Amino acid sequence: MSTPEKFVLAGVMGWPVMHSRSPVIHNYLLARHGLTGTYVPLAIRPESLAAALRGLAPLGFSGCNITIPHKEQAIRIVDEVDEVARRIGAISCVIVQADGSLRGTNNDAFGFVQNVMQVHPSWRADAGPVVIIGAGGGARAVVYAMAERGAREIRLVNRTAARAETLAREFGAPVTTVGWDDRRRALAGAAMLINTTSQGMVGQAPLEISLETLPATALVCDIVYVPLETALLAEARRRGNPTVDGLGMLLHQVRPAWKAWFGIDPDITPALRAHVEATISKSS
Ligand SMILES: NC(=O)c1ccc[n+]([C@@H]2O[C@H](COP(=O)([O-])OP(=O)(O)OC[C@H]3O[C@@H](n4cnc5c(N)ncnc54)[C@H](OP(=O)(O)O)[C@@H]3O)[C@@H](O)[C@H]2O)c1
Repeated sequence: MSTPEKFVLAGVMGWPVMHSRSPVIHNYLLARHGLTGTYVPLAIRPESLAAALRGLAPLGFSGCNITIPHKEQAIRIVDEVDEVARRIGAISCVIVQADGSLRGTNNDAFGFVQNVMQVHPSWRADAGPVVIIGAGGGARAVVYAMAERGAREIRLVNRTAARAETLAREFGAPVTTVGWDDRRRALAGAAMLINTTSQGMVGQAPLEISLETLPATALVCDIVYVPLETALLAEARRRGNPTVDGLGMLLHQVRPAWKAWFGIDPDITPALRAHVEATISKSS
């Protein structure tokens, strides 16, 4: 038996992290591409994030993904960030460079847009007002993506008002903030509603929002993907709104990450999606 030249290593840092389906996706692709290695869930407490990131190079990792709640903290730890990550103000992916230094990038915005366009090819960001719930790391990428794609009015709603206001100041027009208690009113006349909070995710309460004032034509997206159909998406589907779940956003991010880590551009196939979906239905 021949000995492989390299055991490739990558992973995802989060707290919690065991809900993440990134290991399922990446390990499937490692096997398909004949690479010897593994992609591991790394449960990292916020106070240990810097030490954990600094451990990547000596341990031989090619890089890692960053998930809840570390995206905004991680951007302040890595050695360099690209323009997209700088503008978003958060990173979703770390690349260990040849000299051991860490480069941060953000593939969330790319994944979000690719996913919506795949499910609804005629989608346009400038179709009407967009309501984004949440102001964390995921929200930053979605606000950036919508603004880049030409959204003219983004109504940003977050439980902690100050966090939404900071984001609105950073992005300027077209972002305006709406108070948490006024979120029902924010939905009036909206063309799109996007949940970027962790509400609705396995182990969390559903997002508390009434869709009564939302037009039935509005596209409803959730970036949460465990469960695949959150209570928000189920309610939207029941009233006839078109919907997009969060799994495709995660899947589409794999391509830029693999290019940077392994120099490979993997295919995101229906078989891969089905493989991941099977693990979600079993656990939720
Ligand atoms: N599909 C994908 O590829 C993808 C990509 C990125 C993220 N995600 C998912 O998106 C979710 C958020 O991730 P993140 O990285 O943005 O996390 P984060 O930076 O920790 O932000 C969490 C957000 O959720 C809000 N929130 C938390 N508890 C709440 C509650 N009880 N009521 C109302 N709002 C609450 C927070 O509001 P406050 O500011 O008030 O705390 C904040 O806006 C996670 O489920 C993550 O898995 C999915």
